[in-house]
Amino acid sequence: MNNAIDTEGTVSGSSIVVVGAQLGDEGKGKIVDFLAEGVDIVVRYNGGCNAGHTVKVGNKTFKFHLIPSGVIQEKIAVIGNGVVIDPKVLVGEIETLKSEGIQLNLLISHRAHVTMPYHRVFDEGKEKKRGGEKIGTTGKGIGPTYADKMKRTESITILDLVSEQFSKKLSKVLELKVSELLEFKLIKNKDGLENYKQKIIEEYSSYAEKIKEFVSDTSLFLNKSLDEGKIVLFEGAQGTLLDVDHGTYPFVTSSNATAGGACTGTGVGPKRINRIIGVVKAYTTRVGSGPFPTESTDKTGYFLRERGGEYGTTTGRPRRCGWLDTVILKYAKRINSLDELALTKLDVLSGMRKLKICTAYELNGKVINEFPASIEELEKCKPLYVELDGWEELERNEWKEIARKGFEALPKNVKTYVNKIKEIIKIPITIISIGPSREETIIWKN
Ligand code: GDP
Ligand code: IMO
Ligand code: MG
Repeated sequence: MNNAIDTEGTVSGSSIVVVGAQLGDEGKGKIVDFLAEGVDIVVRYNGGCNAGHTVKVGNKTFKFHLIPSGVIQEKIAVIGNGVVIDPKVLVGEIETLKSEGIQLNLLISHRAHVTMPYHRVFDEGKEKKRGGEKIGTTGKGIGPTYADKMKRTESITILDLVSEQFSKKLSKVLELKVSELLEFKLIKNKDGLENYKQKIIEEYSSYAEKIKEFVSDTSLFLNKSLDEGKIVLFEGAQGTLLDVDHGTYPFVTSSNATAGGACTGTGVGPKRINRIIGVVKAYTTRVGSGPFPTESTDKTGYFLRERGGEYGTTTGRPRRCGWLDTVILKYAKRINSLDELALTKLDVLSGMRKLKICTAYELNGKVINEFPASIEELEKCKPLYVELDGWEELERNEWKEIARKGFEALPKNVKTYVNKIKEIIKIPITIISIGPSREETIIWKN
């Protein structure tokens, strides 16, 4: 078993949440793939195909939007009830994995909600209308799908999709959506509704046929598995500051990306979670709009984007980049009850003469240590930094060699940087990632 998974002291089974501690794209996919070797089941609990989790294995790169990254290790993959599922994307992913010869053992929650074709159109249309105030969504229909779920009368669940009731349910839902369908020109007039519905039924029935074998009561399965002593890994999507409750609202996604979402999004109670790992990139990135105190729009930002390959996995948009912000990390520690950190992309910082870490903000002449809820205040916050020395560039094979040897083999200034983060956040950093592939990973028993 992968010795990063230590189940000692747990009661029945073990469950580990991997959660983004910043603004998404921290490298959750890589960390989940790395940990998946030692677990039995990997489950996604929030978000939809707005997520883009990249896993590099050998010379192959996989990009997952809905299926949990643990699937490459051929573990049981579960899509929990908290996820919104675009069946077109899901079917595409299933087919890609099959063509790669990967054994797919998939379970999809019957309680998950479905992203419909009109959700994407609404998402893009609403963004256009917002103009300069846009959220910068991925355009995947996520906000409108969750909004319909919360309305309670205008959503289609996976259970509806695979049942004989689909046509009837869809009729009811579409009746309630006429004004939006007209507004976004999906129908010309009310008479066009029946034709529009038939088109959706035709397309979605074919997806239903392809996924129905995977649909089940995944909460029942996960709880039974935990009873039997199986190890479950919960794969978060997005990150703490994109959480609809705890993030930089309204510049957030529409789900609970924080660790609590692992419970509501899977039907596994909080008492059954044993370990929570926050994934942290060695610097900060953000895609889309919203405040970003350490953002660099000069050569530092450019360096990080180009060296780090900071372009969106889902949309290809350039990510905004800046120095590491530990005000965010301390907030993430509190909101998620983080036990430990997995620190990624340290290798990207190589070749910089000096490195900065933000330790607090200055707001209206006062030093603040807590992450503010007000967007207006956050926009005014000026980061206060400590400065550290950088380190020389290393070749890929040198990083791999270091990973084989362990933490002590890292260049001195890398260790100083890592230790500084640990000293500020005051929790162990147990996994250190120094490259995109599995073997460029260090387990640090500290
Ligand atoms: P996620 O959404 O949190 O899973 O992250 P993404 O996959 O969207 O973005 C992370 C990117 O960084 C991917 O392209 C990974 O292959 C890559 N990556 C992950 N860890 C490391 C690392 O330690 N070093 C480098 N250079 N790249 C990494
Ligand atoms: P992973 O799982 C980074 C961002 C979008 C936008 C905001 C709302 O790969 O870390 P949405 O389409 O969800 O309504 O967009 O959230 N966003 C992400 N940013 N990583 C992600 O996922 C994201 N998923 C959504 O850019 O700012
Ligand atoms: Mg991503």
